[in-house]
Amino acid sequence: MIPIDEMATFCKKKGFVYPSAEIYNGISGFFDFGALGVELKNNIKQAWWQFTVRSRDNVVGQDGSIITNPKVWKASGHVDNFADLILTTKKSRTKLRADHFIEDELKIPADGLSAKDIQELIDTNKLTYKGEEFEEIRDFNLMFQTNVGASNDKEATAYLRPETCQSIFPNFRLIQEHNRLKVPFGIAQIGKAFRNEISPRDFLFRSREFEQMELEFFTDPQEKTCPALTDVHKNTTFQFLSAQEQDAGTNKMETVSIQKLLDKEKLTEWHAYWLSEYYNWYTKTLSIKSENLRIREHVKTELSHYSSATFDIDYNFPFGFKEVHGSANRGSFDLSQHEKESKTNMTYFDEAEQRKYIPSVIEPSQGLDRLFLLMLYDAYDDDNERGNIVLKLTKSVVPIQCAVFPLLGKEHLMAKATEIYKDLQQEFTCTFDKSGSIGRRYARQDELGTPFCITVDFDTLENDDVTIRDRDSTKQVRVPVAELKERLRNLLKENIEFS
Ligand code: GLY
Repeated sequence: MIPIDEMATFCKKKGFVYPSAEIYNGISGFFDFGALGVELKNNIKQAWWQFTVRSRDNVVGQDGSIITNPKVWKASGHVDNFADLILTTKKSRTKLRADHFIEDELKIPADGLSAKDIQELIDTNKLTYKGEEFEEIRDFNLMFQTNVGASNDKEATAYLRPETCQSIFPNFRLIQEHNRLKVPFGIAQIGKAFRNEISPRDFLFRSREFEQMELEFFTDPQEKTCPALTDVHKNTTFQFLSAQEQDAGTNKMETVSIQKLLDKEKLTEWHAYWLSEYYNWYTKTLSIKSENLRIREHVKTELSHYSSATFDIDYNFPFGFKEVHGSANRGSFDLSQHEKESKTNMTYFDEAEQRKYIPSVIEPSQGLDRLFLLMLYDAYDDDNERGNIVLKLTKSVVPIQCAVFPLLGKEHLMAKATEIYKDLQQEFTCTFDKSGSIGRRYARQDELGTPFCITVDFDTLENDDVTIRDRDSTKQVRVPVAELKERLRNLLKENIEFS
């Protein structure tokens, strides 16, 4: 696996991602997505939306504002609790995220440790940063603040949302009523979120502006069974790191099934359902290699203030297994808090049961930029035999679906290739390349992940057929132009084999 800096360079060179405003040396923790990046990102969003919202009867979407009434963040606990511990060196006043510093220095997990625990570790191990000692450990709230309107008064302070889901909870009753939804049901959203990370690092993995794809799924707290849970969910098997293994410091992974986690009462049935749904979405729809994935149970000390149980789907990046998807049981925390703060009834009336209650929430939360990075890593294949990189992205998300090449720059070939290209453009994301040898053009498209290249040659002018070349196998087949679109449609949907 290439180191993260090399991945950042690859992304820049190929037009996926740039440091934001690079002509001014960028700004730490912010990135701009280029022509290829925006296509890949949009396709991942679309795949998630299709899977989460459109293919289900009981999930709807919303698109909330990024800045909202700051009372939302008081109610959610973010004003009081959404902080990391910060270490400041005495002389140069360098600021470090305390848990990351401990993890780097002592190679132990430190997420969720208290200021007292961290101070003890620093004292016991006589830790310094480049020879400098530290001032007292401080809390650092991660929310970006701004002012709304022309006033600088404290009352005008507002926040850029640090998680998208808090735009959903205040709308819970409106959306439920307007869509005549019955519990269990979900509200999903894709959007930007912002965290003023103390030390952004690892390229897109820990940035200050990012996108989330979140589902808040509302269930009856008294109903312990999930009718949607099938044998497919229960038999879903994965590498698992339990809280016990982490507490003991042994960190041994085991292969377990969802059923085993249910037997051990580690999670509720609805929680198991959603964890399994997204794990299978990763491995089946996005074709992510299961050997690069694990599910990790949060230990008690690291659970977020709103969660009673959290499981992360982690990916094995070159900087270790790291979270790309968080699946939390938020219980009734958020709706109860918003009821208290807004003094608005947030209960749901269950007509069938003739019972009022505040629903319990399961939240599958997906970091979009992290998934984007994961997909690039999982697809990246430096093919020695071919002598170039091949980005083996799954066909449903590729930024460019096909490329059209005229064999030579001759007028007739160019005219026919342009005609085919213009026609394909109506339906597919398509590019046209007339420069360099055909081999060089194949290599160029391999590196962008384009699954199919179409060459227009002299035989095309005679027989009205073209060559399609497959990215993964490099095989080539001849296809009549009249059948080209149908063939591409089926190949991209993986309805047919390449032959
Ligand atoms: N909504 C969960 C998170 O942002 O981590």
